[in-house]
Amino acid sequence: MAKKTLDQLAMNGKRVLMRVDFNVPLRESLDVADDRRIRMALPTIQCARNAGAKVILMSHLGRPKGKRDPNLSLKPAALRLGELLETDIRTAPDCTGKDVEKLVGAMAEGDVLVLENLRFHAGEEANDAKFAKALAALADLYVNDAFGTAHRKHASTYGVPALMPKGTKAIGFLIQKELEFLGEALEKPERPFVAVLGGVKVSDKIGVIENLLGKVDRLLIGGAMAYVFMVARGQGVGNSKVEREVEKKGKKKDMIAVAKALLEKIEAADAEVVFPEDHLVAREPAADAETDIQGPEIEDGWMGLDIGPETVEIYREKLADAKTVVWNGPMGVFEIGPFADGTRAICNALAQVDEVGTAIVGGGDTAAAVDKFGLAEQMTHISTGGGASLEFLEGKPFETIEIIDDA
Ligand code: 3PG
Repeated sequence: MAKKTLDQLAMNGKRVLMRVDFNVPLRESLDVADDRRIRMALPTIQCARNAGAKVILMSHLGRPKGKRDPNLSLKPAALRLGELLETDIRTAPDCTGKDVEKLVGAMAEGDVLVLENLRFHAGEEANDAKFAKALAALADLYVNDAFGTAHRKHASTYGVPALMPKGTKAIGFLIQKELEFLGEALEKPERPFVAVLGGVKVSDKIGVIENLLGKVDRLLIGGAMAYVFMVARGQGVGNSKVEREVEKKGKKKDMIAVAKALLEKIEAADAEVVFPEDHLVAREPAADAETDIQGPEIEDGWMGLDIGPETVEIYREKLADAKTVVWNGPMGVFEIGPFADGTRAICNALAQVDEVGTAIVGGGDTAAAVDKFGLAEQMTHISTGGGASLEFLEGKPFETIEIIDDA
């Protein structure tokens, strides 16, 4: 069911409490290093301002675990927002309490107020009823445009809208756009539909692989997660980084056993799943390290740091006729010059897919790679969600979106 969007709310003169995801990387000097998430929220913020709303923005930044941390203040994000909007933005010293209520009471139509980091309060992540009530009391209307946080059932994303009456809750344009692109890719992709998965951790992507196996025509695997599957097959990986075990809530999980089980599912699936044939290896992950091409196995004393040239050719070919591509996770350590070729090649291939179909990029590292290679404009959609886009690709429903009013 389509959700109500903010342009369907009567916002004139109303206090609109808007959850955004301004969880952006900061430099040591505490200014914003990458403002993509702030820029992507601008259409929603501007729409509310133009409609005469008093716009109260709330977000988390980092993981301060319920304690105040001056290094995780939202002030730098608010400053950047002010620059982008070319207007003065007020910031609040907290996100609830008398001072905040006073600031909200003094707002005029079109004003923007940024509340302080929600996660300075333990009640945010605990979805605490009292904290949610204090936030909800600031607002007449609620808008959620924080796609990056849509997989977190917290006070600001769930507790607050749960308290607000029907007819007052909408999604913003960023969430709408993300749901459209990611949703269409999964539900009615133009084929061939190819997924490219990389990155270090296979633990993040077990559910994604399982869900995509039933949807894609081809699945290309790269990055360090490929080495986990190599170990599961009994192949040599030398000194490569391998996620052998993860610990979740005090419980250890053997990732090699998980990879073995996944390989069985892959065998049985209709989708064509492709693993690297060769690897770019080095003695250490350094720009001046000695390198070699090895494959399919990696010799002792060497570590895999990128897919090899033969694999690049194969993956290029597998992407050449694709009409829909979803890509999450780099193919290697693209941050270091000699190990960037595999990730760059995927990036270039997606830029070509964009000309005839849909090329979707998800995940912070992958988006950073696309930026580094100057190809952001050539992607059809770069998701602002890291964990959220993965959970979406797993096919998990988002309760934070379900709780918003239907259109
Ligand atoms: C993200 O960066 O993926 C979101 O802002 C969510 O952050 P979290 O993983 O700390 O909840």
